Amino acid sequence: MCGIIAAASTRNVGKLLVQGLHKMEYRGYDSAGIALHQENSIAHLRALGKVQLLEDMMISEKPKSKLGIAHTRWATHGEPSEVNAHPHKSKDKVYIVHNGIIENYIELKEALVKDGYEFSSQTDSELIAHLLDSFLEKGNSMIDAMYLAKEKLEGAYAIAAIDIDNNNSLVVARNKSPLLLGIGTDEILAASDPLAIGQLTNEFVFLEDGDVAEISAESYKIFDENKKEVEREITNIDISSQATSKGDYKHFMEKEIYEQPEAILNTLDGRVGGDDILDNIFGLGSSELFAKAKRIQIVACGTSLHAGRVAANWLSSIAELPCQIDYASEYRYRNPHVDENSLLITISQSGETADTLAALRYAKEKDYLGSVSICNVPTSSLARESDFVLFTNAGPEIGVASTKAFTTQLAGLMLLVLSLAKSRNLNPKLRTRIITALRTLPEVINETLALKEKILDLAPAIASKDNALFLGRGIFYPIAKEGALKLKEISYIHAEAYPAGELKHGPLALIDEDMPVIALAPESEIAEKLVSNLEEVKARGGTLYVFADPSVKMDVKNGAFISMPKCDFFLTPIIYTIPLQILSYEVALLRGTDIDQPRNLAKSVTVE
Ligand code: AGP
Repeated sequence: MCGIIAAASTRNVGKLLVQGLHKMEYRGYDSAGIALHQENSIAHLRALGKVQLLEDMMISEKPKSKLGIAHTRWATHGEPSEVNAHPHKSKDKVYIVHNGIIENYIELKEALVKDGYEFSSQTDSELIAHLLDSFLEKGNSMIDAMYLAKEKLEGAYAIAAIDIDNNNSLVVARNKSPLLLGIGTDEILAASDPLAIGQLTNEFVFLEDGDVAEISAESYKIFDENKKEVEREITNIDISSQATSKGDYKHFMEKEIYEQPEAILNTLDGRVGGDDILDNIFGLGSSELFAKAKRIQIVACGTSLHAGRVAANWLSSIAELPCQIDYASEYRYRNPHVDENSLLITISQSGETADTLAALRYAKEKDYLGSVSICNVPTSSLARESDFVLFTNAGPEIGVASTKAFTTQLAGLMLLVLSLAKSRNLNPKLRTRIITALRTLPEVINETLALKEKILDLAPAIASKDNALFLGRGIFYPIAKEGALKLKEISYIHAEAYPAGELKHGPLALIDEDMPVIALAPESEIAEKLVSNLEEVKARGGTLYVFADPSVKMDVKNGAFISMPKCDFFLTPIIYTIPLQILSYEVALLRGTDIDQPRNLAKSVTVE
């Protein structure tokens, strides 16, 4: 999704701004642009497509500047095009970059048009440049203009702005869209993602909603929503030491799939002791709070929601707690009734997903016992705004398609379920059984990754089709959904998932030689019923690719039967996810898609 980087420096900033844009490419974008202050003019370059095209323009034009703003855009209002790319400008004087959505843009635009401003793009963002210009024209400073603009703007935004009359400083503002400052040796920076500036500094200042900051090469000032100058804490993070290169892998997604044994080890590290879960792993006082929980509400999006669906089953079976689960984008709009002693759980890799954050903020106004988040990014808004957090410690996930983030979320959610069960004095023997199984999980994942050669054999048959059906039952239905999501997002093959028992209620009509069926058949009390469902597919000439426990008896002639490694039933969803990730990756590779940055998608979805 959109990315902002801005810098005021004692040296040329063009190159470092473009390098910052490269670092944010993983977020997904369709165009890129830069505005560089050159004392008497502002160089303004924009390109539709990859950041590399913008970089090529910079190499040929060689603009020199010590103050600039740059952006990668992910279209919301207006098609991907050069004219809609940021920075946007007003009268060659004011240049802005914006992340987020201005909800009242139509009425603001109409008023600005009446005042004589001409719009050249279809975006909601351009009006910010004109609005700032209208206040600067009245003699306001950029800081004052930003506060006046904030009074008018409704919605979410992170903004960085420069104007022709000031080549010393730039101004940024944040409201419900991530923005932070970085204190470098030769410059002060601002960015929407710490990864963009992690090569230049380890010192970050996370702005809060309502903040406006003025940045020059040597110093910065932050003002809060009431325009009062404030000090915000400096956080030290060594981002450059966090692995953000592909190493010998072709794609980040591939690397992230094979990193899973280590990632899971990191999720478990320091959280299990002896044969039980340790107390307070979600923060001081969390075990005490968990003892009071009578009901759970989960909200999340996409892959994180699938992890939540598995956890809902675990919560019922292991912690004996009822659980309601909602798409974060829907939760606020169904007038949720909150029972006494309900605990809110949010799940998010990035911790910046706008829908999940909005759901958390809404829920905080309700009568929940507290909010607990499972998150991968310690500096994220979700982590900072939740009462209790467990970091999955998966390391940066760059591929848009979630892989290690999902399996570590599942491991983290299992730790949550075990913590709740322990606080409620429930099922000690089962807890010990699961803890023992968790300790061997990285080894079992390694065994599962070794199935790659067998999966490679299946990939061409799936890659040549336009549709696929994924089947699972019970706790494996969300895994089938995750498999279908993975295949569709990176290979662009249409894929759907069903609980296998539902097949005969409609989807069976789709079965023919062009509809591969990928099924998950672990050892379980309903394994035989699942096999009967799969026989229904066989009987209609369908092609079956079954990932199954060796004990499952099934004769697959048309397709393949792949035996899976053994592990404790409750952890099998984690294991059965792995071959589906490898399959999607190999299919996408055969189809030649942009695996790490699939079309139309963004890694961190910061708009509602
Ligand atoms: C998964 O492969 C997706 N790219 C997507 O569904 C993602 O899980 C979703 O956007 C939620 O993101 P989050 O975990 O960062 O909140």
